[in-house]
Amino acid sequence: MVRSACGGGGVTTMAILMCPPDFFGVEYEINPWMHVQVAVDRATAVEQWDALHRTYDELGVDIELATPHRGLPDMVFTANAAVLANGRAVLSRFHHAERAGEEQHWRAELQRLGYTVHELPESVSFEGAGDALFFGDTLVCGHGFRTDEASHAMVADLLGVEVLSLQLVDPRFYHLDTCFCPIDERTALMAPAAFSADSLERLRALVPNPIEVPADVAAGFACNAMPVGERVVSSTSITAVSEPLRRAGYETVALPMTEFMKSGGGVRCLSLPLLPSGG
Ligand code: ARG
Repeated sequence: MVRSACGGGGVTTMAILMCPPDFFGVEYEINPWMHVQVAVDRATAVEQWDALHRTYDELGVDIELATPHRGLPDMVFTANAAVLANGRAVLSRFHHAERAGEEQHWRAELQRLGYTVHELPESVSFEGAGDALFFGDTLVCGHGFRTDEASHAMVADLLGVEVLSLQLVDPRFYHLDTCFCPIDERTALMAPAAFSADSLERLRALVPNPIEVPADVAAGFACNAMPVGERVVSSTSITAVSEPLRRAGYETVALPMTEFMKSGGGVRCLSLPLLPSGG
């Protein structure tokens, strides 16, 4: 069982929301990784998802499962459901119509899990934990591709947290969780190529121990990682930064994610942490 320090100084069990890949596929193109003519190997996708599920289970994580729905192939990417803090959820407003049908299901799932669900005005896009990650008490938020900058202040207000807004400039890293991963209070993975010069400066000022990830390694979804206790679970490209992670006190767990990468996702996209930051 994984015990993590939570805000109050106590310990909590870590929980992660996943959604089985029953209806996963690349059926439309809404990011540069997706090509409808490149077939997803369904059996391999199921194996890769099962391996991630098993890894979490073996590391003592409690796993909650969302119900997948036919016709919503990206529901497997639970990171995009909402951002969570203090028992509250701010539901995503998907930028692309192709994913908007997920919102009603995420609302129901999060209510089932006990969250008070808040919604943003229809006029703004916001893609949940894909574009909003806590580094300590600061909610680091990305904008530029899927999430509108205007949503950041609204999310900060609804959750009662401080936000740092960063501009994403490389379409390969269209969600913040493809290029930034908080590991602990001091350490984070970050891909400098993904950020505007000004945003990179602000991110470097926030993180005392940045592990900088070259663009080609980040393009293997290395930063799309999930820290679990003293492990960092990610795609196979994480091995390129296993040394700096080891120096920071972490072992890497490298899992093949080839089928989900065809959709522009990796380990972190498939995982929405419910505790401790989820409250
Ligand atoms: N195909 C999905 C999309 O483009 C992938 C989502 C990846 N999720 C993430 N949190 N980065 O929306």
